[in-house]
Amino acid sequence: MIDPEIFGHNKQEFIEDPYPFYAQMRSNQPIFRSPRFDGAWMLFRHRDMIRLAIDPRLSSSRARLPAAKIPVPCRAEFEDMFTAFERWMAFKDGGCHRQRRRQAVWALAYLTEEHLTPLVREVAGQLRQQLKAEPAVDVMGSFAEPLPALVIAELLRAPASMAPVLKGWADDIADLYGSTDLRVEDIRRIQGSALHLLDYLRSLATTGDPASILAHIQAHSVDGYRPSQDQAIALCIQLMFAGMEPTRYLVGNAVRALNQHPGQLDLLRRQPNLMPGAVDEFLRYDTPVQFTARTAATSFTYEGHRISAGDPVLFYTASAHRDPEAWDRPDDLDITRSPNPHLGFGRGPHYCLGSTFARVVCQEALSVLLDEFPVLQLHRPQALDWNTNLGFRGYRSLYLTRGDPVMAAAP
Ligand code: HEM
Repeated sequence: MIDPEIFGHNKQEFIEDPYPFYAQMRSNQPIFRSPRFDGAWMLFRHRDMIRLAIDPRLSSSRARLPAAKIPVPCRAEFEDMFTAFERWMAFKDGGCHRQRRRQAVWALAYLTEEHLTPLVREVAGQLRQQLKAEPAVDVMGSFAEPLPALVIAELLRAPASMAPVLKGWADDIADLYGSTDLRVEDIRRIQGSALHLLDYLRSLATTGDPASILAHIQAHSVDGYRPSQDQAIALCIQLMFAGMEPTRYLVGNAVRALNQHPGQLDLLRRQPNLMPGAVDEFLRYDTPVQFTARTAATSFTYEGHRISAGDPVLFYTASAHRDPEAWDRPDDLDITRSPNPHLGFGRGPHYCLGSTFARVVCQEALSVLLDEFPVLQLHRPQALDWNTNLGFRGYRSLYLTRGDPVMAAAP
């Protein structure tokens, strides 16, 4: 038995394989209040996520949850950063959320699969040349990471040289919202990145190209709402951050899943038309966004537990995806699974706004990697390098070799 109180979002042993812990929690303590996580409620079953993810008694207003880690006398220092993040649509509820979301959906309607595919394909084609240079290639550093970063830089009309800088700032924001073990000095570093990013986007907004995503956002008024520059920048940060972080980890996790399931890899190679369904199954089988968070807007009782107003509530989506009450053979990767109503892009009013982007990037990336690596053989599988953040779970680096097919599947 694993003691749930030692569970943490930054602990290597859980990051590597959180699924046995989730199974234990589903069986024994599916609704668990953790003193370690500022009294957060942790929910592991599919049925609880289905019921509560759309329950108005839970609020998305959680921009300041990480502030609980900051000693009260230091909090004022971080006001600028939290004020900026509070503008995110993801942290809004009710009418305000609906208004911002409708406007964003209109403004971003041009980012269809048809629009994105040629752009993503072109960038993937350029990056592919670098994959050829070495016998062992880090597919994260050389491909899965720069691919969405370069596409987003292009959508912002920022120079390609800014892509790694934007990615670094996005990594820091991911640390803020996916970690449990932050120290004040970590939050200081994150605030530094957030403020640099804000300044950079402000400079793009004033001098930028009218075809940039920022200009698109500001150009549209829907139901009388036109975002101010600060609101447009807030949406842009969210798109940039979400576009770079989980998307790259989804590609890496998919590569690893195929490496561990040679039968499924073989099937996908023989039937590339299965790719869209395969991406859904990768989102179910090993989603990078392992949990989503809410706070209780009011006090209420759920399944005998008294949840108090203000309590954080964490839904472990990745656990819901392995819940045998909801899925047939939940621990099997099956790229033909249909239907596949996974929760990888969320559920309800906050359903992911970038699902098309994520799907296109993942499909295009995997098509290149399957083509480029005749077998998806890991180089040194015993030394996998994880990003130690369960909120955005995936590999920092993942080396593939062009190797011997007999050795292809890693344990
Ligand atoms: C594999 C990649 C991705 C995954 C797994 C993912 C997952 C999610 C999830 C689970 C939510 C719901 C969060 C909640 O209910 O609190 C969400 C919301 C959101 N995602 Fe994604 N996402 C991905 C990629 C993207 C991309 C590429 C973009 C933009 C370019 C994006 C933009 C957003 C936005 C703006 C929201 C908030 C929507 C709202 O509050 O109405 N995501 N995403």
